Amino acid sequence: MVINLPNAQATQALGQAFGEQLPAGSLLLLKGNLGSGKTTLIQGLGRGLGLAEIDSPTFTLINEYTRGRLPLYHIDLYRLSPAEADALFLETYWDGVEVEPGIVAIEWSERLTHVPPDAIELSLSYLPEGRQAELVVPRSLTLDLTSLLTSLLGPKGLHAE
Ligand SMILES: Nc1ncnc2c1ncn2[C@@H]1O[C@H](COP(=O)(O)OP(=O)(O)OP(=O)(O)O)[C@@H](O)[C@H]1O
Ligand SMILES: [Mg+2]
Repeated sequence: MVINLPNAQATQALGQAFGEQLPAGSLLLLKGNLGSGKTTLIQGLGRGLGLAEIDSPTFTLINEYTRGRLPLYHIDLYRLSPAEADALFLETYWDGVEVEPGIVAIEWSERLTHVPPDAIELSLSYLPEGRQAELVVPRSLTLDLTSLLTSLLGPKGLHAE
C-alpha cells in the first residue's frame, strides 16, 4: 500500500494508527533517508499507545517506554554498521522472552541483515511536497489503517496498490 503524507501531521497520524492497533510482538522496520519522517512516525505511534513524549534518540541506541498500552522499544541504528547492528542481538526485543512483548520500532532498519519474515516494513521517501510511505504488512496481520487515514487525510491520502 502506498500512502501520501502531505505534512508531518499526516506522518504522525499514520504512526498513531499503528500505536492504537498493533498487537504485542509487532516489529516495525522503518526505512528512508535522513529526515524522511521516521522519528515523526514513531512519535505518533507513541501517542497512539498513550505515551506522553517520545525523544528523538540521536545519540541513544535504544529507548524503552513502558507506560503505554504496550511497551514501545524505539531503536535507531543510524550510527551502526550492519555487523555492529547484528551484534546487538535485537532479537531479544521481538522474541519477547526476556523483555515484555511490545512494539519494536527500528529506524535505519536497512542496517540489519537478519529480520523475521513477519515484520511490518515501512519505507518513507520524499515527494515534491511532503512524503510518501510504502507499507508492506505481513498476511498474518489485519490492520484497519484505511478508515483512520481516510478520515484524517481524505481519500486522496491513500492509494491502494
Ligand atoms: N509527511 C511529511 N511532510 C513534510 N514534512 C514532514 C513529514 N513527515 C515528517 N516531516 C518533517 O521532516 C523532518 C524530519 O523528520 P524526522 O526527524 O522524523 O525524520 P527521520 O527520518 O527520523 O530523520 P533521521 O534519519 O535523521 O532520523 C521534521 O521536521 C518533520 O516534521
Ligand atoms: Mg530519526
